[in-house]
Amino acid sequence: MTVTTVRVPAKVNLELSVGPVREDGYHDLVNVFHAVSLFDSVTVTPAEELSVSVEGPSSVPTGPDNLAARAATLLADHVGVRPHVALHIRKDIPVAGGMAGGSADAAAALVACDALWESRLGLETLLELGAEIGSDVPFALLGGTAVGLGRGERLTSVEVTGEFHWVFGYADGGLSTPAVYAECDRLRAAGGGPQHWPRVSDDLMTALKTGDAAGLGRALDNDLQPAALSLRPALGEALAAGRALGALGSVVSGSGPTCAFLASSAAHADELAAALADTPHFAQVRQAHGPVPGAEPVN
Ligand code: C5P
Repeated sequence: MTVTTVRVPAKVNLELSVGPVREDGYHDLVNVFHAVSLFDSVTVTPAEELSVSVEGPSSVPTGPDNLAARAATLLADHVGVRPHVALHIRKDIPVAGGMAGGSADAAAALVACDALWESRLGLETLLELGAEIGSDVPFALLGGTAVGLGRGERLTSVEVTGEFHWVFGYADGGLSTPAVYAECDRLRAAGGGPQHWPRVSDDLMTALKTGDAAGLGRALDNDLQPAALSLRPALGEALAAGRALGALGSVVSGSGPTCAFLASSAAHADELAAALADTPHFAQVRQAHGPVPGAEPVN
């Protein structure tokens, strides 16, 4: 029996510049995505009907609203087959953590079902289908480092020299992405200040192009961070603790609550991870490097 397993990375947002809310309820973004070596995998096996099983956290839905199940159904509709597969998801990316774990699983399901059904749709079509499922799905297909415009789904790959070493602090419990965007809108309205148009910083692009970790650490920036900190004030102390322990930069990943800390080398990431694990701020501390490729079959 044909079985296909696809491995897919988490993302961290190096810069997330959020514009005003649009008529469709989404925000125009400039979103610099970076894929890191924390992976989920999705295995698809032909079956009598569509089903989902999850290895890892129990908080992942296994019904039709699971993003991987939605991806399999969407692809089956597009190809004209029945979505009769058993999807098995092995989760290592934190759930509702701001690292696009659900989107990653959807991307992996698209690639796995495309292989299983031999539909050979090609990256462009998979990117379009992915964008129908969620704003972060296309990037999980592409991987590497990329600028996302629009909702974040219109992607252009970015040239990066070398690799960067990261430490991630997972909090206990997730944050809801819509709630964090709504809090961002509320804080901006309360501040009365003009909302800026999203933009990407030249310093960030230069740091990526030249492999300058110190420059990247200084340029990390996330417009959703004040909203995440407003909903989860303890994150401010957690970010400060990482900087005090020598991180080159620290930022909330996406809508949070995962905190990302940049190290200067793999050895520095080892030290920083050990030191952060000794603080009371995180349920779990992990190391990773980036950029890494997007969703790809492993067998
Ligand atoms: O596209 P996705 O389903 O991942 O988005 C989840 C939620 O995040 C949306 O329903 C919306 O509330 C918010 N969002 C947004 N602007 C974006 C992307 C997401 O407001 N560009």
